[in-house]
Amino acid sequence: MCYHCPPTSGPGEAATTRRTFARFLAVGAGLTVLTACTPEAPKAVAPSSASPSASPSISSATTTAEAATPAPPPSEPSPTPSPSSALPRQYSLTDPASPWLVVNKRRPLVPADYVPTDLVQPAVATTASGESVLLNGTTAAAAESMFAAAAQQGVAMVLASGYRSYTTQVATYNGYVASRGQADADTASARPGYSEHQTGWAFDIADGGGACAFQPCFAEQPAAVWAKANGHRFGFVVRYPWMFHPITGYYYEPWHLRYVGVEAATDMANRGINTLEEYFGIEAAPGYL
Ligand code: DAL
Ligand code: ZN
Repeated sequence: MCYHCPPTSGPGEAATTRRTFARFLAVGAGLTVLTACTPEAPKAVAPSSASPSASPSISSATTTAEAATPAPPPSEPSPTPSPSSALPRQYSLTDPASPWLVVNKRRPLVPADYVPTDLVQPAVATTASGESVLLNGTTAAAAESMFAAAAQQGVAMVLASGYRSYTTQVATYNGYVASRGQADADTASARPGYSEHQTGWAFDIADGGGACAFQPCFAEQPAAVWAKANGHRFGFVVRYPWMFHPITGYYYEPWHLRYVGVEAATDMANRGINTLEEYFGIEAAPGYL
């Protein structure tokens, strides 16, 4: 079963249907995408209570969710790199105003209706409108730098969706549930009070021409390829990476970038760590409690 297939069309992060994705595979659109739907068995991580004062660190308790799945291909980065060069913990993992906030299905925003105090519109190309053109101040500045650097290298990138209020996330999530049922919705859209978009630290990108927006093939578009390779230089990580849904709880979203700061993002990249849960040594979040 493909756990990385995107959501059916819905509000907010609209995406392709399973049928569309099947067609995409059927026409031989790429071995890479096919590989993207080959489940691996990434490692779960230990609860944060195991090392409450530790620096970002990695545990390697194996999840049983996909115990019978094949091993990842050799090119897949290891989800259990050495923590020997971990950064000291500099910021809160629970404060929504912290760049190291980890919000996932086990870690709701507190307060649930949190609103950033410094929302601004970055000076970047956008296809978004209303509140979704906004980011928090730090993320907006980093996005401006990243988009400019991409443009200098001939890569057009646009802001497709930024800040979403709690109220907007209610509509977004309910739209997914209405169109595809709650279980499926929960693998593509955060429930209200659980979305990074509500913090201003995250946003979705699209390619300059809009190709494959919110679809699996976006991973092959120049904007996604560039962001994946270079985003860390500006403080960004691809928050919901390929194959790591047992840890993050969501399908692969090559368009969803999260600001964590240059130091942490670069450290993650250098050490081949793919998720914030692993990096900070906290519990995997495949589902809601
Ligand atoms: N699509 C991501 C998980 C969100 O709704 O925040
Ligand atoms: Zn997103």
